[in-house]
This record gives sequence, C-alpha cells and structure tokens, in this order.
Amino acid sequence: MGVPLKIFIAGGSGFIGRHLIKAFKAHGHNVYGLARDRVRGKLLEDLGCEPIIGNLLTNGPWERKIEKFDVAVGCTMPGKRGQPPAMRQVPELLKSHTDACSTLINAAMEGQVRGVVMTFGVLGYGEHGEEWVDEDTPWEPLGYGRFISAARDQLKHLAEYKRLPATFLFPGWVYGNGGWFKDQLLPGLEQGQARIVGAGENYISFVHAEDLAEAYVLAAEQLGYAPMSDDRPVTQMLNLVDDRPVTQKEWLSVVAHALGKPLPGSVSKEDCAKQAGELWAESITCSARVRNDRAKAALGWTLTHPTIKEGVPAALDSIRKER
Ligand SMILES: NC(=O)c1ccc[n+]([C@@H]2O[C@H](COP(=O)([O-])OP(=O)(O)OC[C@H]3O[C@@H](n4cnc5c(N)ncnc54)[C@H](OP(=O)(O)O)[C@@H]3O)[C@@H](O)[C@H]2O)c1
Repeated sequence: MGVPLKIFIAGGSGFIGRHLIKAFKAHGHNVYGLARDRVRGKLLEDLGCEPIIGNLLTNGPWERKIEKFDVAVGCTMPGKRGQPPAMRQVPELLKSHTDACSTLINAAMEGQVRGVVMTFGVLGYGEHGEEWVDEDTPWEPLGYGRFISAARDQLKHLAEYKRLPATFLFPGWVYGNGGWFKDQLLPGLEQGQARIVGAGENYISFVHAEDLAEAYVLAAEQLGYAPMSDDRPVTQMLNLVDDRPVTQKEWLSVVAHALGKPLPGSVSKEDCAKQAGELWAESITCSARVRNDRAKAALGWTLTHPTIKEGVPAALDSIRKER
C-alpha cells in the first residue's frame, strides 16, 4: 500500500457503511463519514471514523470539506430509517436518491477528489429466470432497484459529463453482522415467522458484507492511487456477488440449518405483498444469477466466503460473538 488515502463516506452509519469503515481502517486508510446528526456522528466516532455533520440533500459546509479527500464513497439509502418503503413512494424515493448522489458527485468534482465509488444493486437487472447476468445485461430495475438502481444511467451521464472517474458497484443481497440479515431474517427464523415467498425457485445472488467491503477498498485504492488510464471508462460498473447464486429456497434452508431450525413453510407472493409490502415481495422473488468475473479481473478481488456455505456460518459466528 502507498500513502494512506483520505476516504469520505456518505452512509457510513448504515449497515454496509459500517463494514466499509472497518475495512478501510484495517487497510490503514483515514476515514471520515458524513453524519446527519450528532447522534449518528457519535456512532461513527465509536467506529474510529471522524464525523462530518451534513446531509447529501442539503447544501452545507460538508461540501467544502470534501476538498481534502482522495476518494468519496456513496452508500446511502433514501427514505426514513427503519421504515419499509412502499411502491407508491418510488418516484419520491428515486428523486431523493438521484438528488443525493448527484450532490455527492458535484461536490467531489468541485473539490477535485480523484474519484467516486457509488452504490447501486443487482435488483437493477430485474427478472432473468435461470439466465446468467453480467454488467452488459439490460437494466430493468425491480423491487428496491426501482428507486436505487434506476438512478444509475443519469448518474453515469453526470460523472461522464464532469469527467470524474467513477466506479459504480452493484452488490448482491448483502448478509453479515447487521442489516436485514441480523435484524429481520434471523429473528424471523428463530420465531418461526420467516416464509419462503412463492415457489422459492428464483435465483438470488448474495455477498458477505466483509467480502463486499474488501471490494470497495480495492475500488477506492484503484481510483486513489492509479492515474487514469485511457482504456478505463470514466464510469466502471462492477457486480459484487459471490461465486454461486442460489435459489431462495436453498438460501433459507442453509440459514435455517445453521440455526438448527426447520425449513420454513411458504406464503404466496400476493400474501407476502399484503404483509410486507409490494416492493419487498417483488425483490425477494426476483430471479437473476449474477456473474462476478469482471469485478475479480478489474479489482483483483478475491472472496473469503465464495459461497453461502462458508459465509452464513461465519456471519452467525460474528453475530453470536457480539451478543
Ligand atoms: N443491504 C443490502 O443487502 C444491499 C444490497 C444491495 C445494495 N444495497 C444498497 O446499498 C446502500 C446502503 O444500504 P444499507 O443496507 O447499508 O442501508 P442503511 O443501513 O439503511 O444505511 C443507509 C445510510 O445512508 C445514510 N443516509 C441516507 N440518506 C442520507 C442523506 N440524505 N445524507 C447523508 N446520509 C444519508 C443513513 O444515515 P443515517 O444513519 O442518518 O440514517 C445511513 O448511514 C443502499 O443504496 C442500498 O440500496 C444494499
């Protein structure tokens, strides 16, 4: 590693963001996080990250502070924390997410940051049944992708117009210590409330949070250290998923088995939509087998947890150790 990089993270107090802070620090980089208030700022401080108070949706002093950074990372989620998004909110959430990410790209450009790493997700590819999907597959967002990934093309044009080197990352479903895996799925399985939605034969592409975070470090180091080469597109797009997409049913059977619980029963997609919302039902039943070859080649990314067989027990160990 060269001189430590100065990394700015928007979304550092979130599930993925916390793993990013840990990984950047473990690699010796200096990490600063945008926090919307002092309470969230304290959370960042406890992770060893210096907070900068600000909101991507509001212009403020944070935009000038970005000048001292080498790389800016965007990993935010629109909407109210802890409130599941509803289908009717999609236009408003998409606008909010596009505005937030555009402000970050503009601030990074003004501040002469060397590059930005932005987060989308593989739900952007939409429904592909048993087909394999790579970064050239048409983008037809479904579920949560309707308001996160649908912002991709507009933000790509913005980065290219500004000539700001950008890496757009498309994580699969991220499991690990925190987030939906710890707070919803595990209690749901423990209490017998989790369900297979629909037939459970749809393919889902997962990634362990720690493997994901390593890829962000590699992407940021590439932007922060290497001068832009002519053969690198201004915006590089990479899928971050493990080596083996699995069916929804296989996923639940692996997690249930690791917890010593039976495979849950099933619920129809329609009933799931009534209970958990249409966006969730659409997301969990969406099928795409996503390839990771490009990320491995472009970043030199290797996975500690290449499949859920290794990753799920590791995630559970990490959660149990913390309890
Ligand atoms: N989790 C997954 O499985 C997964 C999979 C693929 C893609 N993704 C994408 O990854 C991103 C992060 O996901 P996550 O699960 O880590 O979400 P999360 O836990 O809800 O965290 C969201 C973060 O964004 C921050 N934030 C939201 N709006 C902001 C704004 N206007 N200004 C500054 N900060 C703002 C939040 O700050 P506060 O702490 O103040 O709320 C929080 O730190 C999302 O775009 C999501 O779609 C997630």
